[in-house]
Amino acid sequence: MSRVEVMTSSSSIAMIQPQVGADSSPSATERLKINADDFRAGFNRQPFLIGHHLAGHPLFELPRLLELARRLPEACVAYNAGNVAVAEGLYKGPRTGLSVEETIRRIEDCQSWMVLKHVEMDGEYNALLDQCLDEVQMHSEPLAPGMHKREGFIFISSPASVTPYHLDPEYNFLLQIRGSKAVHIWSPEDRTVLTDEDLEDFYTSEAQNNLRFKPEHEPRAFVFELTPGRGLHFPVTAPHWVENSSGVSVSFSITFRTPASERRAVVYGVNAALRRRGWKPKPVGRFAMLDAMKYHAGRLARRFKLLNNSPTARP
Ligand SMILES: [Fe+2]
Repeated sequence: MSRVEVMTSSSSIAMIQPQVGADSSPSATERLKINADDFRAGFNRQPFLIGHHLAGHPLFELPRLLELARRLPEACVAYNAGNVAVAEGLYKGPRTGLSVEETIRRIEDCQSWMVLKHVEMDGEYNALLDQCLDEVQMHSEPLAPGMHKREGFIFISSPASVTPYHLDPEYNFLLQIRGSKAVHIWSPEDRTVLTDEDLEDFYTSEAQNNLRFKPEHEPRAFVFELTPGRGLHFPVTAPHWVENSSGVSVSFSITFRTPASERRAVVYGVNAALRRRGWKPKPVGRFAMLDAMKYHAGRLARRFKLLNNSPTARP
């Protein structure tokens, strides 16, 4: 363990972080550098850094990403202007008028933000995703067994572009491949920033990610600088937004779910339904027996289509 500075917008705080790569035993096939102790202490509780060996990997060169974008279904390629406000809402930035091809070719100066979703549909990218997540699973399985729904996302963005404030429903490790970016991320347990009602909305709303950014919460954020070779763990539903530095950025997001993360989604759906009926439901995670009862009730309600709640696709 080493002590490093994690900057917030208004102050800097010291926080225990993994010494990237410590305790790892390198091998020819190793993709990630994970410190076992730090993983155990931080997994799904707080963001923490890892290392990786994917910087410079040929699958992330722009011509290869362009080929990938052409192969993926149209619905899996999303892009918009990158010079948007933090509070803009994900995917709500204006269109650029450029094609996918033009956007990637001109990414240095076209002020765009792009995501290639579900790259696990493509053989080579799926193999790489599996290699990485196999390494994560060695650490995550004792803590959150049953890794499934492995999904990969690649973010390509112009200098100084912004990914607006939002939540995601999966366990995530964001691996920085090219360029650098600052990730502003909050604890998923910080109820000053993210209320139970916010989470209920997130897990039940058709239009996910209507979460409202409040600038007064910025001082409570942890800010991590990601550079090539560094990765960051995002706990499930940890609120975040991202700003690129002055170069083109390419990042690889490796994500997964577990039965626990799926159960949590159902219980929030039940709480949302109770709240709509005038109840004040107990917060998720406070009483295990009560959560289990809600989960089983929620599954039954969903089976009979009495509950409008799904464990959410990534927006
Ligand atoms: Fe995200």
